[in-house]
Amino acid sequence: MRRIDVALGSRSYPIYIAGGLLNDLGAYLSEMPLGKKVLLITDTHVDPLYGEKARDTLARAGFQVAAVRVPAGENSKTLDQAAKLYDTAFGHGLDRSCPVVALGGGVVGDLAGFVAATYMRGVPFVQVPTTLLSQVDSSVGGKVAVNHPRGKNIIGAFYQPRMVLVDVDTLQTLNARELRAGLAEVIKYGVIWDEEFFAWLEENSSGVLNLEPAALEYVIETCCKIKAAVVEQDETEQGRRAILNYGHTIGHAIESLSGYGTYLHGEAVAVGMVLEARLALNKDLLTIDEAARITRLLSQVGLPVSLPQGLAAGDMIKSMYFDKKVTENKLTFALPVNIGGCRVFQGLSESEIKQALD
Ligand SMILES: NC(=O)c1ccc[n+]([C@@H]2O[C@H](COP(=O)([O-])OP(=O)(O)OC[C@H]3O[C@@H](n4cnc5c(N)ncnc54)[C@H](O)[C@@H]3O)[C@@H](O)[C@H]2O)c1
Repeated sequence: MRRIDVALGSRSYPIYIAGGLLNDLGAYLSEMPLGKKVLLITDTHVDPLYGEKARDTLARAGFQVAAVRVPAGENSKTLDQAAKLYDTAFGHGLDRSCPVVALGGGVVGDLAGFVAATYMRGVPFVQVPTTLLSQVDSSVGGKVAVNHPRGKNIIGAFYQPRMVLVDVDTLQTLNARELRAGLAEVIKYGVIWDEEFFAWLEENSSGVLNLEPAALEYVIETCCKIKAAVVEQDETEQGRRAILNYGHTIGHAIESLSGYGTYLHGEAVAVGMVLEARLALNKDLLTIDEAARITRLLSQVGLPVSLPQGLAAGDMIKSMYFDKKVTENKLTFALPVNIGGCRVFQGLSESEIKQALD
């Protein structure tokens, strides 16, 4: 079993990574000072696969569980859905000592975390992520949110979980497209932080795509360590944490213009990483060889590396101004300065961005 500690003073927490951990969820929770009622939130895809196992382990450890499954997919990240979950929490008699447990991908994690952060001004929150994206990214770091018609993740909070339990076995049921989308974030960590890890991925991506447990555990551990290190430096994204957004400024524009759901988040980020590497190349931050290595690795794992037909550069730039990271009307980009290093740049000119998009 691998353990990583996210060191945030009184908000510190462990991340446990191993196969089969879901069986021990109840035992892990009973070692924490928690009330005996649990709100377990999952979705309509995850519940039939892992819901019973989660309810059983919690019941064996003496917890009384109210289990709710929300419809799978991004559309569940709404205030309406959160309101239904508050109703269930009240109905079950959840008090301030009782945990909300998220069992699922990033959608369930973000929604459940938002409910945990706001119900009674905050109750303990536990993440049991079941997609590669949520295991390497969204379950760690405390960003919780729902969507609003004005934007994705625009209503939310920074609210750290008390524990993250990663059962790598759950990835065996994830479809190949979702797995590849998670790999985009994995490759991102290599680019922004760790050249050795990037090189390892170049040699070993097939092990991850073939769901080999040792490869998965190594990848998840490495990514969680990097995310923990970044979050420890800048919990509420005042500066440094923004390097995690490499690929995301352009990625978000692609997602929103092509209609959410056409591209998976990771797929849009993959294209964003290629184009933002091009932006870095044009600014002489990155060499042509480094930019090519990034594109090659993304392509090698089966991710898209070029813009979909019909997206006009002008529309994309307009869409970028709706990003949460825009301050004083200046676009922010996290750009690689080599493989293994990244810096945040503000105030790039529209012509520079257009040149990269073209
Ligand atoms: N909080 C953060 O820091 C952060 C970071 C990145 C992304 N996010 C958010 O995460 C969300 C995307 O997360 P995601 O990619 O995990 O999507 P998701 O939660 O929609 O899961 C993807 C699909 O896989 C299914 N699924 C989940 N686990 C499964 C399993 N083990 N086996 C089979 N199917 C399974 C889900 O039901 C869903 O259909 C977005 O809403 C995004 O905004 C948040």
